[in-house]
Amino acid sequence: MSRKRRNRGRGKIIVITNQKGGVGKTTIAYHLLCFLYDAGFKVLGIDLDGQGNFSSRFMSKEDRIGGYRAVHMFNAEPTPFKPLVTPYGPDLIYSLNRDVELFQVESLPLFDAVSAFNDKIDGLCEEYDFIVVDTPPSYGNKMAAACVVQDFLFVPVELAAFAVEGVVSVVESVKEIGAMIQEEIKITGVICNKLRHVNSHQQALTEMRNEAGVGNMILKTNLVNRGAVDDALRDGAPVWRRRTSGAERTTAKEMTALMSEMAGLCGIKVSSKGASK
Ligand SMILES: Nc1ncnc2c1ncn2[C@@H]1O[C@H](COP(=O)(O)OP(=O)(O)OP(=O)(O)O)[C@@H](O)[C@H]1O
Ligand SMILES: [Mg+2]
Repeated sequence: MSRKRRNRGRGKIIVITNQKGGVGKTTIAYHLLCFLYDAGFKVLGIDLDGQGNFSSRFMSKEDRIGGYRAVHMFNAEPTPFKPLVTPYGPDLIYSLNRDVELFQVESLPLFDAVSAFNDKIDGLCEEYDFIVVDTPPSYGNKMAAACVVQDFLFVPVELAAFAVEGVVSVVESVKEIGAMIQEEIKITGVICNKLRHVNSHQQALTEMRNEAGVGNMILKTNLVNRGAVDDALRDGAPVWRRRTSGAERTTAKEMTALMSEMAGLCGIKVSSKGASK
């Protein structure tokens, strides 16, 4: 198996992954997609998690009907491509909130699932500047498919006990997926999330920085654990759209700094006014 990137159009694929749950994958994928959209890029989000959290950040479950769902990316037969256009602006290949068919993709043979996804996303790269893929919290066909097609791969981690072990196991999973396509898959960056100013978190951060093969991948910008992140997500707006209180302004500044650093690592020019083509 090999990826088809040589035939691909202009679009770049950015994947956010970690087989561990609750580390901030969806939060970061959501903000990155909005950030790139705000910067004027033509963007598409793909929700590979059958819980549908990424999709519901953009659209209520009642509005997510018809069109093209993430499960269609794994069908061998062609399905007419018609993404939903979200009220915020980006296009979306969505998942239902309990997308049984998307969960069932895990029982397909690995080769079939990865090949179908690879073929389908190739076509989409003709249409978009950036495609941001949110992945489920499990090592399986969907995580493998996303890692095979990625141009940039980010791994958020929650700073808590066993954070280092968590990252090491993602690094091993990504290595295994790379071995399958006989190509080394590089992790673009590890993002430390939910940082609190307590000793255990500072210790976890130090351990992570000292861990061979991990320390050099850690992004300079950390995300602090802030209630404003959760509030903004519940309201269906990125944190930089809410700047009423001091806490919201601080959260917006931190998130924008992280998005700028991620964009820079993806080769996007970032000035003090934001990202640009
Ligand atoms: N920096 C932060 N500060 C406060 N809350 C946060 C932060 N980052 C994420 N959260 C919250 O933590 C919870 C889990 O985040 P999120 O859903 O992004 O994780 P995930 O890795 O996508 O989870 P899953 O593996 O279940 O898909 C959410 O309620 C989110 O709002
Ligand atoms: Mg998620």
